[in-house]
Amino acid sequence: MTLLEKIVALSKRRGFIFPGSEIYGGLGGTWDYGPLGVELKNNIKREFWKSMVYERADVVGVDAAILMNPKVWEASGHVEAFADPLVECKICHERLRADQIEEIQKHESTHKGKKPEWTEPRKFNLLVEARLGVVEDKKDKVYLRGEITQGVHVNFKNVLDSTRVQIPFGIAQIGKAFRNEITPGNFTFRSREFEQMELQFYVKPEKGESQKWYEYWKNERMKWYLSLGMDKKKLRFRQHEEGERAHYAKDAWDIEYDSPFGWKEFEGIHNRGDWDLSQHQKHSGVDMTYTDQESASKFLPYIIETSGGVDRAALFFLIDAYYEEKDRVVLKLHPRLAPFKVAVFPLLPNKPELVKKAREVYSLLSTDYGVQPVAWDDRGNIGKRYFAQDEIGTPYCVTVDFQTLDDDTVTIRDRDTMKQERFKIENLEKYFKKKFNH
Ligand code: GAP
Repeated sequence: MTLLEKIVALSKRRGFIFPGSEIYGGLGGTWDYGPLGVELKNNIKREFWKSMVYERADVVGVDAAILMNPKVWEASGHVEAFADPLVECKICHERLRADQIEEIQKHESTHKGKKPEWTEPRKFNLLVEARLGVVEDKKDKVYLRGEITQGVHVNFKNVLDSTRVQIPFGIAQIGKAFRNEITPGNFTFRSREFEQMELQFYVKPEKGESQKWYEYWKNERMKWYLSLGMDKKKLRFRQHEEGERAHYAKDAWDIEYDSPFGWKEFEGIHNRGDWDLSQHQKHSGVDMTYTDQESASKFLPYIIETSGGVDRAALFFLIDAYYEEKDRVVLKLHPRLAPFKVAVFPLLPNKPELVKKAREVYSLLSTDYGVQPVAWDDRGNIGKRYFAQDEIGTPYCVTVDFQTLDDDTVTIRDRDTMKQERFKIENLEKYFKKKFNH
């Protein structure tokens, strides 16, 4: 089994990620997050919001609608330019991305000795279309947003008018985006529905100023992934080449991860110049300029964007944390990302006094001490329970045994060192507060 196959199997077996609509044979490029996956994803999003919004005075957040007036996407250039060049196999008419040479070679080998000819590359738009309205035949075509970005830029004036932000400042957003990807694949890596976590940071339109903030945000975003435990050796920056950049970008650098399927992008940092605001100003007729408080000068700010994929981050955090050791598989996820923070066990499930005490510890931790969520397990022997928690990345297991009934102490077992220590129950709040830094 390859590493990716192991991650796919673990995700299904333990409830991280399931194929979308599985009982109907699935729907290509869609995935459902299970009980553990939703926790992992929520933790990633919470950490993003904490570092990008709550811990800064210069960033505010929004949550814009997925459905937008289609004129937005004409203005943003996505109707015209958000397209992949595709080639079509003249034998079976399957379409593949012209830049995916490996896929094309793989496809050629499926035609048993007949080497297919390919059409010239043609542009295929990635926006997913939908219909709105109640009257048959008069429905309006809309697009499911291809990036969450435009929901921020169309609210630039609203945010300026309703808050006290001043340039330089940013607007963060997390939400779903949709793309009609031709070749979804590598598990969740290329999906048709996915989530993005973004910052749009508005700065003065001067080269030195935008470059300064560009470098600043590149650095901040790399630091964020490292702070959540990603292996430094598996991360790198890569600058887009001239013909590779999206239509809105003056400069683009990806943060890439050394994945089982090669170095792959999971966050892009872009200098979007004044592309978005000038386009919306032109197409909507609304003045999008910013007035500088001191000099009273008016200008269209430049935008430095950081755009990460929540699903790709979740996938790479899982891959990065996966270890096979002598007797166990362990996910060494950062404690703040782990789906369960702690698991509580009664040593023996058939001793009511142990179960009662363990239930008390469970509710003390999860309700009074705010350690959430806490797993409960009373099946099988204690060794099996530890290994079941290791496999899903639970950093600490708390066991209530007979000594607990005498002196109110429990054992805490550390996922990574596998060492056990005894602690007074009354000290658990302080202990976990330090561990989870909340
Ligand atoms: N607003 C800029 C923007 O959307 P992008 O480089 O096209 O830029 C940003 O996308 C991030 O969104 C990517 O780095 C990736 O993590 C995620 N992403 C893009 N397409 C994706 C897909 N088909 N499946 C999963 N994640 C995707």
